[in-house]
Amino acid sequence: MNIAEQIADLQKQVEALKAESAEDLEALRIKYMSKKGAIPQLFDAFKEIPKEQKAQFGASINQLRQAAEARFNELKEQLGGAASHAIVDKQDLTRTPDPIELGTRHPLSLVREEIVDIFSRIGFTVADGPEVEDDQHVFSMLNFAPEHPARDMQDTFFIEKEPGVQKPTDILLRTHTSSVQTRVMTSQKPPIRVLCPGRVYRNEAISARAHCFFHQVEGLYIDKNVSYADLREVLLYFAKEMFGPDTKIRLRPSYFPFTEPSAEMDISCHICGGKGCAFCKGTGWVEILGCGMVDPNVLEACGIDSKVYTGYAFGMGVERIANLKYRVKDLRLFSENDVRFLRQFESC
Ligand code: DAH
Repeated sequence: MNIAEQIADLQKQVEALKAESAEDLEALRIKYMSKKGAIPQLFDAFKEIPKEQKAQFGASINQLRQAAEARFNELKEQLGGAASHAIVDKQDLTRTPDPIELGTRHPLSLVREEIVDIFSRIGFTVADGPEVEDDQHVFSMLNFAPEHPARDMQDTFFIEKEPGVQKPTDILLRTHTSSVQTRVMTSQKPPIRVLCPGRVYRNEAISARAHCFFHQVEGLYIDKNVSYADLREVLLYFAKEMFGPDTKIRLRPSYFPFTEPSAEMDISCHICGGKGCAFCKGTGWVEILGCGMVDPNVLEACGIDSKVYTGYAFGMGVERIANLKYRVKDLRLFSENDVRFLRQFESC
């Protein structure tokens, strides 16, 4: 058979194709359409054809291929229709339908939203910043000394860095949301009142108590005459809203490079009410955040006149607050996406 006869023959075969089942159809597809099937094989024969006849044969092979595809689709539809009729016949239409399951919100999202909601009621708005940051915004402008241990490879994931040398242009994953402070202060004029929720990264071995990424919410307020008493009142308001009206707070002196004075805040243990239990290790208090008055060096580095403006800042771990609220003992549960864990927050 020459190629013209082969095409004509296959054309007839294709028109007469019949399939009783999906298996039949698949066998036909392999016979005619697969790589080694009759129609693609024609393209091999096509290579031998003299140049001047190529256009004519090319067109008729393509026509044949299209006709075959159309016939296959036709057969497929006929079979599909019959198959779905069979399924409908077997269905019990009186059965109650499967309930559509609602997804649950992640406990960290619930806690973050609650924190944002509490502060938005007193005028804080949300600000965002990049997770891939530079040294300048994460460390330098926040008054970290060049040799500060937080800048070490052991704590920070670097993306671009020359070994040994610290440069404001080093690229890294932010280790805290305090970096958003510097972004906001360099792009907005006081008064500034922002809350910065986000994910942070630290080079830690993963265990029940530590993870290489977690979440923080940062707060920043800059204006004229902002005082430590303002900070204390706002944090007391937050603690009562978050953990109940009987919650007490205490501020312990601490150190952060970007605040002066700095403090850590404890709340009265909401499990034993401050009497002392295993959770608070008998002290009656649990630590929840770091805070302080923004160091004048930070204001100046961000172009804000520290003789005119003062401000406070605070930062808390979302996982920490979620642990206190829901008593999740193993931090890893938050990122494993085990539905048995996540479903427990269905009603929240
Ligand atoms: N950035 C600190 C950390 O990651 C938390 C923090 C402490 C933020 C004190 C603040 C602050 O804004 O004032 O541990």
